[in-house]
Amino acid sequence: MKPLGLNEIREKFLSFFESKGHLRMQSSSLVPQGDASLLLINSGMAPLKPYFSGEAPPPQGNRRATTCQKCIRTPDIERVGKTSRHGTFFEMLGNFSFGDYFKSEACKWAWEFCTEIMELPIDKLYVTVYAGEGDGLAGFPDEQAYDIWANEVGVDPSHLSRLGKEDNFWEIGAGPCGPCSEIYFDRGPDPKCVDPDNCKPGCDCDRYVEFWNLVFTQFNNDGSNNYTKLNQNNIDTGMGLERMACIMQGVDSLFDVDTIMNITKRVSAITGAKYGQSESVDVSLRVITDHIRSTTMMISDGILPSNEGRGYVLRRLLRRAARHGKLLGTDKPFLFEVCETVINESKAAYPELDEKKAHIIRVIKAEEERFAATIDAGMKILLDLRRT
Ligand code: GLY
Repeated sequence: MKPLGLNEIREKFLSFFESKGHLRMQSSSLVPQGDASLLLINSGMAPLKPYFSGEAPPPQGNRRATTCQKCIRTPDIERVGKTSRHGTFFEMLGNFSFGDYFKSEACKWAWEFCTEIMELPIDKLYVTVYAGEGDGLAGFPDEQAYDIWANEVGVDPSHLSRLGKEDNFWEIGAGPCGPCSEIYFDRGPDPKCVDPDNCKPGCDCDRYVEFWNLVFTQFNNDGSNNYTKLNQNNIDTGMGLERMACIMQGVDSLFDVDTIMNITKRVSAITGAKYGQSESVDVSLRVITDHIRSTTMMISDGILPSNEGRGYVLRRLLRRAARHGKLLGTDKPFLFEVCETVINESKAAYPELDEKKAHIIRVIKAEEERFAATIDAGMKILLDLRRT
């Protein structure tokens, strides 16, 4: 198992699936196109929904596709910086079948990629399948997937287990969904585990890290958990690029991944704050690092700061990052400089970053100045109140 950079892993994944007949597609914009159910793209499959349902013909007539999709998820924003795994921006690698291959190929290729391309040791890999839960179409256990993993792929039964709907049934809002199999990497015993004797995939501790989700997209959820069978069987997989990079680089935290650490280093160079100096400084450095990644990507996709919708998400992220800059003692705009590092680290995969560089810098600087003016005005009101 060789250490690989985040950009190398992305390329290896996409070219592996190209070699299996998949069309390599550019990441879609973070702004959903024709999908009112989402504010921002939050998974690899979200921009591809019409291909799973059969509403749209497959892209360029190809029933197999592979992408690295830019994603934003903000529900855990308050935890960002305080944990090793939470971030608002992440990249999701995926291979997709729109009514073409199904479970057998998806499982075999995933295993081949993990063991032969990433060279992950087989004894560190664990797989889960859907145990079934509840009534109706979505309630059946996925015995077919169990059989494929055990008998076609050859996974040792002691490394195979069944989990319920929360872990092994994938759906995000309304739309295509289905039972899934997850692949975990065993990082070794976690001293913080509350039940080390029974620790297994699905445990809340950090021992088994889930890095790839293979969804067998057979159903449609109408948004109220009423399931119908889709006209075609599909595959939708999601491998967290940052998670895989943590595994391949032997680091615990997404903030220690090569390209992401380079952003933190730039923040340190500008603010003078050193990573590892204290927990509160580290939290601020991580918040800034995460938020400048998401905001640079959002602006490159045409979002502008505002007081509603996507624009509000962008404004909130930028202002949180600026506030953490203040906590580090920086009183002048600085995020507009850090975004250059984000652009440099990711422009090979996302050429729009370089094309829109001047615009991105301008938007960030203007918002930082507006925020500083708002704070100054607030301070003045407070001081005037104290004098009265
Ligand atoms: N669409 C599968 C995943 O993102 O996990």
